[in-house]
Amino acid sequence: MEKVSINDIVDQKILKYDLYDVTGAKLYSVGEILTPGKIIAIKEYDNLYRKSAVEKVDNILPVQSVLVDFDSDNLSNHKAIVSSKIQREIINSYANILDYAKMADWEEVEVLTNKLSDGIINLLTNLSNQIKFPHEIKLIGKYDVAHPVNVALYSALLAIKMELSELDVKNITVGSLLHDIGKIQIPPNIIEQKNASDKHLLIYKSHTILGYKILKNKLNFSNAIARIALEHHETMDGSGWPYGISNTMISDYAQHVAVCNYYDTLTSSTVTERNPVFSAVLKQMLKLGSKHFSPKPLYTFVHMFNFSDNISYMDLLTNDY
Ligand SMILES: [Fe+2]
Repeated sequence: MEKVSINDIVDQKILKYDLYDVTGAKLYSVGEILTPGKIIAIKEYDNLYRKSAVEKVDNILPVQSVLVDFDSDNLSNHKAIVSSKIQREIINSYANILDYAKMADWEEVEVLTNKLSDGIINLLTNLSNQIKFPHEIKLIGKYDVAHPVNVALYSALLAIKMELSELDVKNITVGSLLHDIGKIQIPPNIIEQKNASDKHLLIYKSHTILGYKILKNKLNFSNAIARIALEHHETMDGSGWPYGISNTMISDYAQHVAVCNYYDTLTSSTVTERNPVFSAVLKQMLKLGSKHFSPKPLYTFVHMFNFSDNISYMDLLTNDY
């Protein structure tokens, strides 16, 4: 444990790490908004502690051998802290999963998804303390392959940072890898359409329901995992789709993945309204706030990328900026 000075905490708008008392009991969790009341309560402790930084460990990613020949120079993210070899392996592994899904070889999809999830979790557990910016783990590639992988990378990292159980981390990673799997049953011209008609939009939105049915009926994954596919476009205020459910009706896993899905979608090159500046997208997400996202995963996500804007936390609380 490492001692923390009260001044360091007072300067933060959102708590940057879990905070412990002298007995090792957790007082506050990473991502919590430091309201004036909390600051007063924190000041009453004589000594405060955080967990010491963990030493770097070598990365081992047990994924499928490379089967797809990519032009890796154009697809690798050179700013990434993951080697380009591992980036290619992850992308190729997911391309295989997608191919098997299109051939309806569900047994193979399940085996490979479990394997890739374990590889991603292993990789991020080792790297979690080194990652400072989202582009350090974002993979570059075709949207249908790179996007689900990026959502899984962000979701797994977020779950690790939130100290969720091993089972939750695994379930979230599996579900986020397959959150858009229903798109394989939607005609490509509708998927790629920029200004879709209402009818086509409705078909597009059904990828959530189709994905849920695949995860539930074709694959052996739990209902909790399948609900990630079903509910990842729902929002806390009920303005999302396909069902417009709200708050606690949306499963915890789906609330978690929705944050990462939104971020990766808006920073991906195929999306018209994208903003490649990660801080602008994070700021936009804070602006949408708890009307759109569940607060804990949202604020932990924003925090884990060292994002610091110049708004006050009172502004943040009222969304009024
Ligand atoms: Fe989706």
